Amino acid sequence: MMNSLTNLLLLAQTRGNSFWMPPPASTDAGAVDDAFYLLYYISLFFFLLIVTLMLVFVVLYRRRPGHDPKKAPSHSTALELTWTIIPVVIVVFIFYSGFTTYLGMRTAPRNAYEVQVTAQQFNWTFKYPNGHSSSDLHVPAGQPVLLLMKSNDVIHSLWIPDFRLKMDLVPGHYTRTWFEAPEPGVHDLLCTEYCGTGHSAMLATVVVHPPAEFRQWLDDAARFAADASPAERGQLLFRTQGCASCHSVDEARTAKVGPPLWGVFGETHQFTDGTSATVDENYLRESILNPNAKIRQGYRAQMNAYQGVLDDEQVMDLIQYIKSLKP
Ligand code: CUA
Repeated sequence: MMNSLTNLLLLAQTRGNSFWMPPPASTDAGAVDDAFYLLYYISLFFFLLIVTLMLVFVVLYRRRPGHDPKKAPSHSTALELTWTIIPVVIVVFIFYSGFTTYLGMRTAPRNAYEVQVTAQQFNWTFKYPNGHSSSDLHVPAGQPVLLLMKSNDVIHSLWIPDFRLKMDLVPGHYTRTWFEAPEPGVHDLLCTEYCGTGHSAMLATVVVHPPAEFRQWLDDAARFAADASPAERGQLLFRTQGCASCHSVDEARTAKVGPPLWGVFGETHQFTDGTSATVDENYLRESILNPNAKIRQGYRAQMNAYQGVLDDEQVMDLIQYIKSLKP
């Protein structure tokens, strides 16, 4: 027992602040951890104090022959002042520590690099100042990054555990949050508000690049978008608009929430209402813009309409991409 406790303490020492939580990777993460540990150790101290005193009193004042209970005093001003003032001081100290940290986390520096975040069932889109979009978040190291966020459907919540960063995305309303990652690295980003059947798959990666590498990545991405064929642009849209979360495009026709798309162009599909149709450009266009118009047998109506999300050219790029998926 003593041995395992010592091992635990040694482990806590070697891992430093990251014993209970992943290693902090943003400028504010340390302050969040400090607020957590402040509460944690205050709670631990009083828990041990109270339990110890209870045990001591149980033994010391147990009922036994020759020790009849005395009448307890009904009032003690000194005692009441003590148990009022000490907790008040502690609570004010906790509030001060939490509030100053919170203010810093709410107020983005003016020079922050702005990335627009869109959440939809069930994926993330990150849009950069040059117009490029990606399904993972790429940011430069050592620079504050402001996330301007919206949702296309229901409430989602962006969570980057390594940054101790969490903020809801609400339909019809912009929310914002910011962070600065001092070191290059790769971190998990998850949706942490239950938003539907695909909630647990609403994952992305945060890639923190050295600043020069980030500019290079953004330039390359923009150049690719300018030179790409319609099918290549469609492939990029397919990844960034969330299609890939629900539709597989591999030759094995991997089963996902929605129908696999490999080789569908030219096939005849049966629908839940008993009708059927051949997959052509018009059918694909309708399935993207108004997916519930025709539901394939064996599937349910659960895809988002992309009417108003994609423009005509983007719809055509996606159609060209789907056409290119063939044996
Ligand atoms: Cu989006 Cu959970």
